[in-house]
Amino acid sequence: MRTFTTIACFREWRRSAAGTLGLVPTMGALHAGHLSLVAAARLENERVAATIFVNPTQFGPAEDFARYPRALARDQALLEKAGCDALFAPAVEEMYPAGSETTVDVGSVARPLEGERRQGHFRGVATVVLKLLQIATPDRAYFGEKDAQQLAVIRRLVEDLHLPVQIRGCPIVREPDGLAMSSRNAYLAPEDRRAATVLFRALEAAEALWRGGERRGEALRCAMEQAIAAEPRARLDYAAVADPRTFQSRETTEGPARLLLAVFVGGTRLIDNRLLET
Ligand code: PAJ
Repeated sequence: MRTFTTIACFREWRRSAAGTLGLVPTMGALHAGHLSLVAAARLENERVAATIFVNPTQFGPAEDFARYPRALARDQALLEKAGCDALFAPAVEEMYPAGSETTVDVGSVARPLEGERRQGHFRGVATVVLKLLQIATPDRAYFGEKDAQQLAVIRRLVEDLHLPVQIRGCPIVREPDGLAMSSRNAYLAPEDRRAATVLFRALEAAEALWRGGERRGEALRCAMEQAIAAEPRARLDYAAVADPRTFQSRETTEGPARLLLAVFVGGTRLIDNRLLET
C-alpha cells in the first residue's frame, strides 16, 4: 500500500491507477467498523483508497480535536492487511492552506439533532468530504450508518452538487455486547465501557415495542429515555425518532423511521441508531 501526504502525489497515483476506485474516508484510529467499509469497497472496485485526516473544522471549540486518538503506523498495517491500495493522510495545512475560506452548508438535514448540538459540525464534515471527493475522484465512496445523519448529509451534498460519485451506506459494526464500534470508545474507563451498552439496550427496548405494534414516535422516544435513565453512569443528550432521509422528527412510525440516540457516558459522548423496517 502506498501512503501519500500531498494532494499532488495522491492525484498522480489516482491518474495512473487503472480501473474503478472506491474511497473510504476516515479520521483514523481504525477499528472493525472502518475495515468493514474497506471490505465493502474491495468487493465492488478494482482499487481502494482510504483517507485518514482528523478534520479540525468539524470539531467544536470545546470538543476533543487535540486528544482525538492518532495511530498512523497501526492504521497503515490494518489497511494494508484489509487490501487497501493507497492511503491519503495529509496534514492540516495541506487540506486547509492559509487563506482558504470556502465552506459547504448542506441545509435542513444538517440542522436538527447532531447539527443542533454540534454547531458547525456538518459544515466541517461536508466541506472536507467535498474536498476529499474532488481530490480522489472515486467512482464510489463508503460511509457507515453508525453516523446516520452524516450519511444523509453527504447524500444531500452529492445530489445537490451533482457530484459524479455513488455513495454507499454500510451497516453498523458492533462489539459482541452490542456497543457500536467507535474510535471514541477508547476514552471509556472500564466501568463506563460496561455502562455504554445502555445505548444498545435502549434501541432494543424501543424496537421491541415497535415490533409489538407501537407506532407513536413519542412512546418509542420515552422507552429509550427510560432505558438510559436506568443507567446511573449515563446522561441523555437526545433520544429521537426521525425520518431517515430528512432527519425531521416523526410523530408516527407508519413509514420508515430511524431511532437515534446521543448519550454521555462518563465524559464521553456516544451516538447510536437503528432503522425501523418491516
Ligand atoms: P470516522 O469517525 O473515522 O468514521 C469513518 C467512517 O467509518 C464513517 O463513515 C463512519 O460512519 C464509519 N464508521 C465508524 N464506526 C462505524 C461502525 N461501528 N460501523 C460501521 N461504520 C462505522 O466519520 C468520520 O470519521 C468523519 O466525519 C469523516 C466522514 C471521515 C469526515 O471527516
